[in-house]
Amino acid sequence: MKKLIIAIDGHSSCGKSTVAKQIAAQLNYAYVDTGAMYRCVTLFAFQNFFINENKIDEEKLITRLNEIDIDFRYSAENQRNETYLNGTNVENEIRSLKISEMVSPIAKIKEVRAFLVQQQKKMGEKGAIVMDGRDIGTVVFPNANVKIFMTASVQIRAERRFKELKTSTPDVSFAEIFKNIEQRDFIDSNRAESPLRQADDAIVLDNSFLTPQEQLDWIMEKIKNKMV
Ligand code: DC
Repeated sequence: MKKLIIAIDGHSSCGKSTVAKQIAAQLNYAYVDTGAMYRCVTLFAFQNFFINENKIDEEKLITRLNEIDIDFRYSAENQRNETYLNGTNVENEIRSLKISEMVSPIAKIKEVRAFLVQQQKKMGEKGAIVMDGRDIGTVVFPNANVKIFMTASVQIRAERRFKELKTSTPDVSFAEIFKNIEQRDFIDSNRAESPLRQADDAIVLDNSFLTPQEQLDWIMEKIKNKMV
């Protein structure tokens, strides 16, 4: 059986990680959430006061990147991989709106991208991996066996994210989430360094009107075609 590299890129909050995890579980592959890695760098920048009033001290952050150690560990209790930054479980903290609001500006920094991309390439060296992000099919694994580009309308993505955050962050408004998604789309697609774009050989999946099961079936069929 071939050990494939499966790259899933696309807009913010369109369910990339949910489907990537399902694929990894079905194939018994490793799963890497590269967005979590950019979120960890953002949290590290906050922890060290490199972000003040929405301004990033890029120079300081760049010189201290070598102090960042990110890994993913399986939690038997929650039955999922969780993100660790320098040995501390930060899985919940990195999903907050505070981090979401600063992660796209952090992900624009060339040196931050180089630092993380090199680690991502290493994680996928042996194949049998599902990786999701913004530049996986274009930069990290331009030779990936399967490339999916996911999208959905901003309205639908904001509704889904609002539902998700409502319990953990009751103060957050729909308008704030909508604006955050729109802003992240803009920054991610227009930055100079590895902007979000569909790889020429990616298959587009607009899941605005698909159920999670329909979406999974659709992707698994594309993957199975590549396995023979
Ligand atoms: O997938 P996510 O929403 O957790 O990603 C957080 C941010 O990180 C997103 O706004 C863009 C950035 N990102 C990136 O630039 N490249 C990646 N491979 C993954 C995420």
